[in-house]
Amino acid sequence: METRYAIILAAGKGTRMKSKLYKVLHPVCGQPMVEHILQRVTDTNPSEIITIVGHGADKVQAQLGERSVYALQEAQLGTGHAVMQAAKFLEGKKGTTLVISGDTPLLTSQTLNHLFEYHQGKNASATILTAQADDPTGYGRIIRDHVGIVDRIVEQKDATIEEARVKEINTGTYCFDNELLFSALSNLNTDNSQGEYYLTDIIEILKTQGHSVAAYQTEDFNESLGVNDRVALANANQFMRERINHQHMLNGVTLVDPSTTYIDAGVVIGSDTVIEGNVTIKGQTVIGEDCVITNGSRIVDSQLGDCVEIRSSVVEETTIEKGTDVGPYAHLRPQTVLGEGVHIGNFVETKKATIGRGTKVGHLTYVGDATLGEDINVGCGVVFVNYDGKSKYQTTVGNQSFIGSNVNLIAPVTIDANTVVAAGSTITKDIPEFAMGIARAKQENKEEFAKKLPYFKEFQ
Ligand code: UD1
Ligand code: MG
Repeated sequence: METRYAIILAAGKGTRMKSKLYKVLHPVCGQPMVEHILQRVTDTNPSEIITIVGHGADKVQAQLGERSVYALQEAQLGTGHAVMQAAKFLEGKKGTTLVISGDTPLLTSQTLNHLFEYHQGKNASATILTAQADDPTGYGRIIRDHVGIVDRIVEQKDATIEEARVKEINTGTYCFDNELLFSALSNLNTDNSQGEYYLTDIIEILKTQGHSVAAYQTEDFNESLGVNDRVALANANQFMRERINHQHMLNGVTLVDPSTTYIDAGVVIGSDTVIEGNVTIKGQTVIGEDCVITNGSRIVDSQLGDCVEIRSSVVEETTIEKGTDVGPYAHLRPQTVLGEGVHIGNFVETKKATIGRGTKVGHLTYVGDATLGEDINVGCGVVFVNYDGKSKYQTTVGNQSFIGSNVNLIAPVTIDANTVVAAGSTITKDIPEFAMGIARAKQENKEEFAKKLPYFKEFQ
């Protein structure tokens, strides 16, 4: 294989996004657009990847890290000017250079590899990746001569009415003979409606110099979608979502209603897991096999073992082991760890809580800053009182203890194994093993007293 290089253009501000966030950092299915591009480019095995940064340079670099080197484009004078910034890394080197925009996140590595191969096969000085668009508005048009050979690319703003009718568009992705690319760049000028150095003009320059130029057309226009505004961003998210969902289904995951299932790029899901409609799964989430995620659930940055059931609940930065069930309407907040076969019922909230195997927290309970052992029963309406308005404190509950309903455990407090906490107690002191903690006012019955109350008088 020839030596491959890649240049990612990511210095633009993205004015048309009307955003404080730099364009290439806008996420598509959970990952910044430029991250998608870097991953696809890396799949084609280039020996060097140069990312052109400008607006938001530090943030783009923080995202991509050491997987790329960077060239700073101080003023954004156009895509051709952006490529010039890579000269210090690539000028004079033999090989093929892929130039790709940071705003075309749907391109696949398969298409990029085909582009490289086509370019090699044609022995061209440049090969443009093109697509056939139903609506080419906004894209550069591919102008071919009377026998169909590529002549040049004309930008929308510089196109005549006739040129604007052309439906074959420039995807903004190209392969170049590296040496010819950098020598041709010096011939660019800003003689166009936007006063910019257009990379697209390189095609005409190479042709004038007598070099051959080729075009490789993708079958799927959607793959080449360039994101310049929020409308295209929404379309890109939709296409990417469809692609991700499709892949999960092929892998053996049942999606009951794929059109309302939102799964980020990079999420892993085991086979025979069933995901109902209106479910969102985000970030670095891994879900095991044979799980059930019912409608309305939202799972973020969490790890779920096999046979876990999440019923209409919110799960964030949580680890859940095999066979545990959650919800409906539970909220598992960061640093929750649930062991095997745990039951979390409705209206339960957890945070920084480790709950051991077989423990049941069934109803209307808050568990925060706590460690619970195994096979514990937590009654209805228990509050782990962890906060005094200034600091947070820990509660520990040992194995097989029974916490009655409507109990407050005021942290810091330790409830040993095999204890009982009487319903309605407000516990402030530790409870030793095999003891029962009871902390509630003694009941007194006042004979005949009810009759004196106005309420009862009405019925007499
Ligand atoms: C560009 C192409 C157009 C093509 C379209 C495909 C040119 C002149 N036009 O138009 O033919 O159909 O992409 O999506 O190339 N950038 C820089 N520095 C700059 C200017 C841009 O790094 O000075 C980066 C941007 O961050 C972006 C990419 O280059 O990632 C493309 O720039 P953009 O302004 O989006 O170009 P388009 O108008 O989409
Ligand atoms: Mg663009």
